Amino acid sequence: MITIQVLQVPSVVPEAYWDLFLSTVSEERRAQAARFVHQADAYRSVLGEVLTRVTLSELTELPRTKLSFSRNAYGKPCLVQNPKMPFNVSHSGDWIALISGGKAEIGVDVEKIAPIDLQIAERFFSTQENTYLAAQPADQQVNTFYRLWTLKESYIKAIGMGLSMPLDSFAILPNILEHGELDWSCKQDGQSVPHRFYSHPLDEHHMLAACAVEGELPAQPEVVTLESLCAELA
Ligand code: COA
Ligand code: MG
Repeated sequence: MITIQVLQVPSVVPEAYWDLFLSTVSEERRAQAARFVHQADAYRSVLGEVLTRVTLSELTELPRTKLSFSRNAYGKPCLVQNPKMPFNVSHSGDWIALISGGKAEIGVDVEKIAPIDLQIAERFFSTQENTYLAAQPADQQVNTFYRLWTLKESYIKAIGMGLSMPLDSFAILPNILEHGELDWSCKQDGQSVPHRFYSHPLDEHHMLAACAVEGELPAQPEVVTLESLCAELA
């Protein structure tokens, strides 16, 4: 079963919690956290690994301290003790998202919605995506931009080859279902791919997307609290 978990990061993590979180992650992550200029970056990075360790420990039934990670040539992490265990993490703004489970490649992306110059879409999106974006009502264009952006990134992250895959080589577009719901699908070099997508705002200021090459994506993410994460570690 594929699960998407989301965790909202507070502006200040209580010190006792923070010490526990730091002691849970790898030496490398601790060193990276100490180098961040902004504390919020350290929180996102460390909590992303904590959430990953807690969840993968449950899925693999291995103690979280025994888990270690390596990365492919493009930076996608995998679990050394079970390299086929699908998972992927994303962090932006106030949120961390983790997708895990199933049997095949999965990806997730969360982005903080900030005012943008929509012209940058021309640099990143395919012609069909730009046509779709331009057809949206003016007051929905920024949200649609972030929808497409996170969907595209969730696909790139599922495949795991980073930007070595040109962003305009594939198009992710919706079919409109009954009740106005959108069902997103992707064509790569003009051919339909089997990947399925999830796209939903997390809150007013953050967009979430997920991608899975097989299996059902959940209807909604599971919200994890800082307190419940801490309780798992205690
Ligand atoms: N594939 C999948 N996951 C990857 C990855 C890869 N090649 N490289 C890193 N990751 C994972 C890591 O767990 C990383 O977190 P960590 O370093 O704390 O462990 C996490 O993804 C970061 O994801 P996210 O928070 O969404 O970061 P990002 O949006 O800054 O970067 C990447 C996304 C990692 C895929 C990066 O390759 C990138 O810069 N992509 C291009 C962004 C872009 O131009 N998108 C355009 C969409 S239209
Ligand atoms: Mg991202």
